[in-house]
Amino acid sequence: MLNISHLTVSYPGRPPALDDVSFSVSPGERVALLGANGAGKSTLLLTLAGAILPEGGAVTLEGVTLTKETRTQFHQKAGMVFQNPEDQLFLPTVGEDVAFGLRNLGLPEAAVTQRRDAVLERLGIGGLKDRLTHHLSGGEKRMAALAGVLAMEPTLLLLDEPFTFLDPRGRRRLSQCLEALPQALILATHDLDMALALCDRAVVLDGGRVAADGPAKDLLRDGARLEQWGLELPLSVRLGG
Ligand SMILES: Nc1ncnc2c1ncn2[C@@H]1O[C@H](COP(=O)(O)OP(=O)(O)OP(=O)(O)O)[C@@H](O)[C@H]1O
Ligand SMILES: [Mg+2]
Repeated sequence: MLNISHLTVSYPGRPPALDDVSFSVSPGERVALLGANGAGKSTLLLTLAGAILPEGGAVTLEGVTLTKETRTQFHQKAGMVFQNPEDQLFLPTVGEDVAFGLRNLGLPEAAVTQRRDAVLERLGIGGLKDRLTHHLSGGEKRMAALAGVLAMEPTLLLLDEPFTFLDPRGRRRLSQCLEALPQALILATHDLDMALALCDRAVVLDGGRVAADGPAKDLLRDGARLEQWGLELPLSVRLGG
């Protein structure tokens, strides 16, 4: 469903942030995107969401190739949860923020309300519906941003560090929710235990290049290679899991 082929992306005046990146994702597949700070994870997700255009190579999602003309289709098909939830929430209340995207889909008001309330309940944040987004705590903002993206039911979910700011209950809720989703997802994270729990496959970026692509349970047990990439063994592996 998603094909990334020889993708290169640079920010002005900087060496390539992504350099000849190639891999594919199948429907329903859950892929962990790993790598040290600055490895290129967020840049890759932003490109897949159509926020950045490729400088070289190509990205194709469900038969549509990413260009200036098709980027709005990418926004709709690929739902991204940003690394910083402040970048995501822009309407005064949580309920309005989640409903906004649904109204843009052209859904009737009753369907907007139904889908909004269902997603807030599923994430355990029904009580936040009428709260002002800029008064929320970090974790509440994160959950609200997630709700806005999940409500849109994108075919591909792009999650950039979704577990930061969340308390243990929020982490558990989110991971259960992600596990139950039928969609393909790419999870960029430094939380290697979550990566192992949720994803069968891991792609490791190192300096903007794909350093490894394989079963998460193998890659995340290879202490020597993880250290090379600036990572370390998940706690569950260190404790003998
Ligand atoms: N807007 C920007 N302008 C210039 N350079 C940028 C910009 N955003 C990112 N970079 C650079 O591109 C490279 C990749 O950054 P990116 O944010 O994709 O890394 P990351 O893997 O998401 O890191 P982290 O784990 O810290 O979130 C880094 O060298 C970074 O400094
Ligand atoms: Mg990042």
